[in-house]
Amino acid sequence: MNILAPSILSADFGNLGHQLKLLDEAGAQYVHIDVMDGMFVPSISFGMPVIRSLRPYTGRIFDVHMMVEEPGRYVEAVAEAGADIITVHAEACTHLDRVIGQIRGCGKKAGVVLNPATPLTALDYILDQVDMVLLMSVNPGYGGQKYIPYVTKKITELRERIRKRGLTVDIQVDGGVTLSNAEELIRAGANVFVAGSAVFQGDIKENVKRFLTILEDNSEHPQTAAEEEVRR
Ligand code: DX5
Ligand code: ZN
Repeated sequence: MNILAPSILSADFGNLGHQLKLLDEAGAQYVHIDVMDGMFVPSISFGMPVIRSLRPYTGRIFDVHMMVEEPGRYVEAVAEAGADIITVHAEACTHLDRVIGQIRGCGKKAGVVLNPATPLTALDYILDQVDMVLLMSVNPGYGGQKYIPYVTKKITELRERIRKRGLTVDIQVDGGVTLSNAEELIRAGANVFVAGSAVFQGDIKENVKRFLTILEDNSEHPQTAAEEEVRR
């Protein structure tokens, strides 16, 4: 199933609760919440108190992307604040296996993120322990950047690895996702789509609906080039 995860980093922070309701009414399945510590990435965004305050505004899934050094220090607190999925950067964890265990121990879904230049081999020993892999398609830290084209091949390769191992792991893509490249990313094998500026610039509900139409129209698309070959 293809899922839209609007990133509230591009929202109006003075109106977050209201904007969350708009996303919900328009049908976006996840809320993507970018936590930044000013160390792993240059920016500082928001943390647990904001997540906790937003929780009553929607029943949608809170997908928390931790751009934080050693996020293991905060897993329990983020879980208690209302996260449903907690995603940590492989680059930020000295003990990645342990942090994934912590997330699962809290009863939450575990995601691992790779920066654009981090090879897929970082996932070799933990792929079967995670619910989702997030492939960054910009260097993290800011909204509104341009999609890095080589990530499309990385998505296809990861989908192939997941398929070969008989796993069902979601592939999320984050950074520079727009109405124009969403279909290409579905074809590559991604199924969870983060969009910040493309959702919050202009009419939020209209943008969400347009994204959902593309995601639904392409829901039956073969997930790998190999599968496409077989169908021919
Ligand atoms: C970037 C964040 C993204 C960001 C995406 O570091 O992880 O979630 O909000 O913004 P857009 O969709 O504008 O590239
Ligand atoms: Zn993000």
